[in-house]
Amino acid sequence: MNEIIKFVKLFSLNFPTQFILIIIAVSIQAIANSLSVVAIGPLAEVLLQTEPKDYSRITILVADFFGYEKLPVDFSFLLFGSSLIFAGLTSVVIQYMVFKTQFAILEKIMSETMEDFFNSKYEFFSDTGMGKLLNSFQKESDKLGASFGILTKFFVNFFQAIIFISIPFYISTQLTLIFLICLIFTAIPIWFINTKVRPYGELITSTANTLISVLQENFSAAKLIMSFHNKKRAVEDYKSAFSSHAKAAVIFQSIIYSTGILFMPLGMCAGLIAISWGYQNGVEIASISMILFAFFRMMPVIGIVIQSRSEIKGFLPAFEQIETLAKNARNMQQRDGTKKFKKFSEIQLKNLSFSYQTRENVLNDINLSIKEGDNIAIVGTSGSGKTTLTDIILGLYSPSSGSLEVDDINIEEFSIESYRKKIGYVPQEPFLFNKTIYENFKWAKSNCSEDEIWNALEIANSTDFVKALPEGLHTNLGDRGDSLSGGQRQRIALARAIIKKPLILVLDEATSSLDNESEKFIQNSINELSKNLTMITIAHRLSTIVNSDNIYVMKNGAIVESGTYDDLFSDKNSIFYQMISSQHNEIS
Ligand SMILES: Nc1ncnc2c1ncn2[C@@H]1O[C@H](COP(=O)(O)OP(=O)(O)OP(=O)(O)O)[C@@H](O)[C@H]1O
Ligand SMILES: [Mg+2]
Repeated sequence: MNEIIKFVKLFSLNFPTQFILIIIAVSIQAIANSLSVVAIGPLAEVLLQTEPKDYSRITILVADFFGYEKLPVDFSFLLFGSSLIFAGLTSVVIQYMVFKTQFAILEKIMSETMEDFFNSKYEFFSDTGMGKLLNSFQKESDKLGASFGILTKFFVNFFQAIIFISIPFYISTQLTLIFLICLIFTAIPIWFINTKVRPYGELITSTANTLISVLQENFSAAKLIMSFHNKKRAVEDYKSAFSSHAKAAVIFQSIIYSTGILFMPLGMCAGLIAISWGYQNGVEIASISMILFAFFRMMPVIGIVIQSRSEIKGFLPAFEQIETLAKNARNMQQRDGTKKFKKFSEIQLKNLSFSYQTRENVLNDINLSIKEGDNIAIVGTSGSGKTTLTDIILGLYSPSSGSLEVDDINIEEFSIESYRKKIGYVPQEPFLFNKTIYENFKWAKSNCSEDEIWNALEIANSTDFVKALPEGLHTNLGDRGDSLSGGQRQRIALARAIIKKPLILVLDEATSSLDNESEKFIQNSINELSKNLTMITIAHRLSTIVNSDNIYVMKNGAIVESGTYDDLFSDKNSIFYQMISSQHNEIS
């Protein structure tokens, strides 16, 4: 019963009013359904031409209620028919309420989970697999929603089963007790089957995580798959993931189905034993027919109670996965201070080291000072830690030791929102949304005007190509901005960063895909811009950082050299000099 209690708690705590309303509605539905059973009694007795003095207790109650001494045939038919219609209509209305509440609950829980995810550190995303994240919001959240519907189904049928059982109890206590004792024996095989529900529920969730992950990779890597002509492999990966999921699903669904369906013949046998006892011990035919009808109506109801319980048990792993992810996200919550970040004189990295989970240090004892208005460059071999360093400056990762400080105040004391709002960032692999160019700018700054957009595009040397697009600013960019060339994407991403009018602009290889002329143009614009803001540039092409105030050379996670271009270049033994020489050799 743990799973039922867990879900009741979840729903009642999140939606107390709706929960009470649903409980009332469910009770009405149970009563409405039970009335149709009660109404068969008078009909049976009227058809059997029973005299009023021989009426059963229920028929006497009904006749008294409607003011008849002898129930007319027409009225008995009408009563039975209308009780069935009333039960049907009540079910429809209540089901509508249940669906509505189910989706409202789901929306609330899943949006809160999404909020938890985005309040966490970026590490949460990089540590949790994409398949698991996507699947939690696709298949697993559906199961969570469905469990609410199933829970109400459980309660409607549970109440109904109790009302149904009270009818035969009222008519013949002994007969009903015999039935209940026989019924206990039916629980044994069902209990055994039920023990298999949870392990298969877990298996279904984990195989769905894998399946969604394969799907996501296959589709986002479609170009790569086709160019490697690895489509067979892609289909096989999908087939294998699907088949593992299907195997688990077939067994899971069969188990759930069988718990409900197996009960029917077993329960019916219990009923028949009780009725044959009643028949041999002088219970009247009208009473037996009422009991028989109650049993007939009761079996599917109890079957549903048993099946719903199994389903909820099987859906528990889905809920637990979502719950655990949300909990992990909350445990990894981004520390957020109260100080507003408005301006600064100096950003300092003090003895800062960092390692990704389970790996050795990627950054080692970094000391760096960035003064307001500085234009600094970070260079170094691939994998030396440049991107990681800017990720830390952006507050995406927290240092493992040492600190990042703004004017001697730890970054964690600032509101992360106020800090990031002042930073413009162009990542190494720019991501544009599947929206129009205009909407991509609005995403970065919701109140920007078209003039501001054109201004930013001008700085990023993009005016001409945007004007040449079929629908100009309102051209859709396709998935991840796929309808643009790599260099065009970089330029739009740069313009999108600039439009925020940031205090600090971080460029991670932001012009690496551009031709020399375009890069030169942008370089000039950036040099203009850098007069009014602080710039951190990561560059491979060293010709782009000639004007930097300070260049930091990184190797194996440490800053090994620093100085102006001329300082570093004048030292023939410096790594920087060798880097310049090798780039020079490449060109000549
Ligand atoms: N999410 C991650 N998890 C674990 N290790 C990572 C992660 N991201 C980067 N690394 C490791 O950290 C080191 C530094 O990576 P980083 O991306 O900072 O290098 P980089 O200097 O920017 O290189 P490049 O010039 O190729 O962009 C690399 O050894 C890389 O393998
Ligand atoms: Mg990098």
